[in-house]
Amino acid sequence: MTHTATEPRTADVLVIFGITGDLAKVMTFRSLYRLEARGLLDCPIVGVAAQDWTLDQLIERARTSIEGTGVKIDQAVFDRFAARLSYVSGDFGDTTVYERVGEVIKGAETPVFYLEIPPFLFGRVVQGLSEAGLTTGARVVVEKPFGHDQQSARALADELHQYIDESQLYRIDHYLGKMGLEEILYLRFANAVLEPLWSRNYLECVQITMAESFGVEDRGHFYDPVGALRDVCVNHLMQVVAAAAMEPPSRGDPGTLKDATTALFRAVEEADPKHYVRGQYDGYLDIDGVAKNSTTETYAAYRLDIENWRWAGVPFFIRTGKRLPETQTELRLVFKRSPRLGFAPPGHLAESNQIVIRLDPSTGVRIQVDAHRADSVRAAPINLDMEFSQEGGEAPTPYEVLLHAAMTGQSTRFTRQDAVEETWRVMQPLIDAPTPIHTYKPRTWGPTAADRVPDGFGGWQLPWISS
Ligand code: BG6
Repeated sequence: MTHTATEPRTADVLVIFGITGDLAKVMTFRSLYRLEARGLLDCPIVGVAAQDWTLDQLIERARTSIEGTGVKIDQAVFDRFAARLSYVSGDFGDTTVYERVGEVIKGAETPVFYLEIPPFLFGRVVQGLSEAGLTTGARVVVEKPFGHDQQSARALADELHQYIDESQLYRIDHYLGKMGLEEILYLRFANAVLEPLWSRNYLECVQITMAESFGVEDRGHFYDPVGALRDVCVNHLMQVVAAAAMEPPSRGDPGTLKDATTALFRAVEEADPKHYVRGQYDGYLDIDGVAKNSTTETYAAYRLDIENWRWAGVPFFIRTGKRLPETQTELRLVFKRSPRLGFAPPGHLAESNQIVIRLDPSTGVRIQVDAHRADSVRAAPINLDMEFSQEGGEAPTPYEVLLHAAMTGQSTRFTRQDAVEETWRVMQPLIDAPTPIHTYKPRTWGPTAADRVPDGFGGWQLPWISS
């Protein structure tokens, strides 16, 4: 079969390094099973890990992992899925493991290697694959973090680029697999009634809240050296900023979309520590794996400014935290106030209009307008709400979307190195000059010190909680 340059080949094998790990357990098996159920899986899957497992053990692990995520197994689907699996055990530092993988995938022209392993092993594994002659025509999918600052992000890319081309590298930021993120672009650019409003002509500020009601729990060893800024701000929340603020991509190809994202990131000013408040919830220090006197932030609130014609003067206030009262991620546009209305009762000042796009736990859009109701002499805010699940049903989960995209060679939803470096540039001043840590009580909206971040812009808006 001949392939044109614009038509990516579909994977003829998926090789998962680290298949015995935690991510596979909570995410990968379930996502692949759901792809199988939807008829979207059509290649063998080879697991690679250090454990000396039999194939039966791997299949059993797949079953318990899928069930563990609350999915009720359909035996016929599971049997089809299990029949795809094979297993190679070995140490990633040992060259023979790559030779054995080569044997198992012999004849494959478009292997997809998914590295669910600690980043310090990425270079080693990609080198091993390359030396075993397995990287021609291959894609390599990697999980965050991509470095711990701008310099290390560059070093990691340089290391990988010795063996594979940037176009072969698929970096996962699972926010790019979220339906809500795509929804932002459609709402903005497919609606003439909305598009002109997204600018400094009408907006006072933009607020992004990513609240999580759960804590760090059993992830102390991973989380403590990382903190909120590196865990979710430099990646996931920057993707929300990009979708909210970028110019419309003029085509749908990955290059044009990624150029639009990077162009937006380039316009974001380096974050100013003056507008950065860090918090840590009470009880965090007792978590296994957390250093005794850790000052790692589980909450971050900060301001970003975008210096271009669309956004200059419209601050983006961003906050995220663990053990907050709700699990909720939203993008909120806060409009400029209307002038005092001469015809309205004296003293009446209309509330700012707001548009909210909710990304999690479900997607929806809310428009808050001021309206005059029969039960009051004054106008008051009312909400026009739409839950997207009522129109079109449940979307596939991000990992289903991303694994399918990696296998079919749709690179749009993966981050490119220039964008990664730009996001580190924006966040670097906050990393270099961490502000004092404020403790906060679980189930509150973070430290009170964070209230000052949106000073002069009406304060933080309470998120739209779905009923
Ligand atoms: C992960 C972070 O990347 O994203 C977690 O490591 C965070 O700490 C998670 O909880 C949030 O993703 P989602 O899709 O559950 O909102």
